[in-house]
Amino acid sequence: MNPIHAQNARDPYAPLLAIDGLEVEFRTAEGTVNAVRGVDLELRPGEVLGIVGESGSGKSVTAMAAMGLLPRSASVRGSVRFRGEELLHLRERQLMPFRGKAISMIFQDPMTSLNPVYSVGWQIVEAIRAHQDVSKEEALQISIELLRKVGIPNPEDRVANYPHEFSGGMRQRVVIAIAIANNPEVILADEPTTALDVTVQAQVLDTLRTALEMTHAALLLITHDLGVIAGIADRVLVMYAGRPVEIGTVDEIFYNPSMPYTLGLLGSLPRVDTDGSEKLRPIPGSPPSMIGKPTGCPFAPRCPLAADVCQEREPELAPVNAQTPSHLAACHFTKQAHDRGISLFIATSVDLDSASENLATTAPGSASSKAPGSEELRAPGPGNYVLAEGLSPAGPGGYETAPDGHEGSGATGPADGEETTP
Ligand SMILES: Nc1ncnc2c1ncn2[C@@H]1O[C@H](COP(=O)(O)OP(=O)(O)O)[C@@H](O)[C@H]1O
Ligand code: SF4
Ligand SMILES: [Mg+2]
Repeated sequence: MNPIHAQNARDPYAPLLAIDGLEVEFRTAEGTVNAVRGVDLELRPGEVLGIVGESGSGKSVTAMAAMGLLPRSASVRGSVRFRGEELLHLRERQLMPFRGKAISMIFQDPMTSLNPVYSVGWQIVEAIRAHQDVSKEEALQISIELLRKVGIPNPEDRVANYPHEFSGGMRQRVVIAIAIANNPEVILADEPTTALDVTVQAQVLDTLRTALEMTHAALLLITHDLGVIAGIADRVLVMYAGRPVEIGTVDEIFYNPSMPYTLGLLGSLPRVDTDGSEKLRPIPGSPPSMIGKPTGCPFAPRCPLAADVCQEREPELAPVNAQTPSHLAACHFTKQAHDRGISLFIATSVDLDSASENLATTAPGSASSKAPGSEELRAPGPGNYVLAEGLSPAGPGGYETAPDGHEGSGATGPADGEETTP
């Protein structure tokens, strides 16, 4: 047996997925895009790791690199191992046993994963039979049970429906059913709820939780919305400009954030100590261009704590303090950032609104003039967050999701739960 496999067999907590020094560049007419600049992460059995960051921070490219799904224009360096086996640079055929079996993926738009010209039942049956030696009839029965488990009403009938006959939320449940059809060990979900309205987001997250309970799979959950992460993740990795800038347990990130960008993300979540009518406070400015390499901290132009050293040297990811070695942050001033908490942005820019307005008139793609194709930094509406136990509303972070469990409408298509006539 390969020594790494032997080690995994002995240690049930050995990482399932280990990414080391991942770097991805795209050569474009405008120059080299440094999309991912050194990502290290480990995903252990049964763990949920959230990756959060604004649009363009390199989250999707990290996941796509791990699955060998990047276009040929990408140059990839580093290592991606599944149970110790190197996946980077494997050929398509060699990746087959991993994709859809050991590791499955859920994307933002369910129509990316579903084929519009086949019934959902046909598609689940095909996914099952690609990796399991079962008859079509057996696979169909398994498909119906999977649809039932992900909350599709009347699965015996709905199995014959086509993707366009489902609402956005129901389609994403179908995608989750396919993702768990072969009992994966790892699920990579890239913005799985972003295209859905708030109520449906909560339902789909619940379905994802059910899927994890059924399969005991580990989940890498990518989102630009910290609110989504709070209710489901064990650990959080915050990405900015192509690299992790803070990583820790959910408690470390929400109770003791120590990097200004994380504080900005937390500060832009809706507050529970208000009536919900207040404006969200997005971080002023916009993420940097990924063309070329930064000389200093890429967050410096937006950071209230920026000092000379920040312009000169990009900070390393390092333990925030000796007592919490799992909590790492990339900032020259982690202590000051931690001590200021989420008030950092609100208190230092006395009038953030006018700052944002100025930026909007001078900088295309700034906080209030959304860059084309980017998601705006936002969080679900009031009522979806409750204050975490023991936190003062004025303290740093402290939000967690409280899905309400009501049925609602999908972003597209008929309302969830609504029956459509085939
Ligand atoms: N095929 C590509 N060619 C050139 N640049 C790309 C390509 N795919 C992604 N990028 C760039 O890589 C960076 C990271 O993108 P991505 O990982 O998709 O961000 P996100 O965090 O929003 O998922 C962005 O600057 C994006 O424009
Ligand atoms: S290194 Fe400097 S600019 Fe970067 S986040 Fe920390 S304080 Fe801000
Ligand atoms: Mg993305």
